[in-house]
Amino acid sequence: MAGRVDALYFFLVGLAVFFSALIAGLIVYYAVRYRRRDPDEVGAAIHGSLALEVAWTVIPLGITMVLFVWGASVFFAMSRPPDETINVYVVGKQWMWKFQHLDGQREINELHVPVGRAVKLIMTSEDVIHDLFVPAFRTKADVLPGRYTNLWFQATTPGRYHLFCAEYCGTRHSGMIGEVIAMDPADYQAWLSGGGGEGSLASKGEKLFADLACNTCHRPDAQGRGPVLKGLFGRTQTLEGGGSVVVDESYVRESILNPGAKITAGFQPIMPSFQGLVSEEQLLELVEYVKSLGAEPQATPAGPAPAAPAPAGTAPARQ
Ligand code: CUA
Repeated sequence: MAGRVDALYFFLVGLAVFFSALIAGLIVYYAVRYRRRDPDEVGAAIHGSLALEVAWTVIPLGITMVLFVWGASVFFAMSRPPDETINVYVVGKQWMWKFQHLDGQREINELHVPVGRAVKLIMTSEDVIHDLFVPAFRTKADVLPGRYTNLWFQATTPGRYHLFCAEYCGTRHSGMIGEVIAMDPADYQAWLSGGGGEGSLASKGEKLFADLACNTCHRPDAQGRGPVLKGLFGRTQTLEGGGSVVVDESYVRESILNPGAKITAGFQPIMPSFQGLVSEEQLLELVEYVKSLGAEPQATPAGPAPAAPAPAGTAPARQ
């Protein structure tokens, strides 16, 4: 994204320099050209010029429309991650960044990624608003308590890149920094297979799901008191009382913390809240477990569900 952002930025700078020079130059030129030459001189009365007014309306309109369309296209590209991404969960807290890979690796203030692959960060905060900023990638997004925000990038050159918190978040805000380590795919695989060992995020979620007795109501058959979770993720769910919702990370999270907010049609609002009982990291494990239960290959234009297992560390956006 860096090239596109830079091109737009330098165009803006060039535009500002051009008009600054033009205006400053004309001020000097007119001051000399139209100076008063004799004390009794009276200026000519000028009553408007349609051509001039049309020109100074239409030309700026054209320039700002170019900026708008150009800026919007860059913004859309930054906002829409590709379908195939490596997903990493991020939890910001005063004052550190915690990264959680799907295979179970955890990192603090360091994020290892492969070059040449799109990486999507699914981010939340344990306390106040933070903002994850990687200047070299020209990418930046707020990290908010109580919801998930996304950011994606694709590193192109191996190396270590600064990572900052870009939202004032308290005393040690300036120390809330780290590094993104972009590695060759082979090195990344080697890094992934070393360490970890605690099991994947989804498997920890499955254990937690049983520990919290979620499985007594959310049973795999349709006999439970709660909706069947298998094949749920990514689907559009009809709600009690009308409306619908797409089952994404935010909806699963909300349903755990505030189950009464959006009840699936045909069910009673009997689920207790798990607010305060599960940490942000446990929430991520549960979300990833629900994701791992898969989505039905329902009427997607993409055709049949991918048959081959994705390479390690890969997670299609809708599993
Ligand atoms: Cu976190 Cu500033």
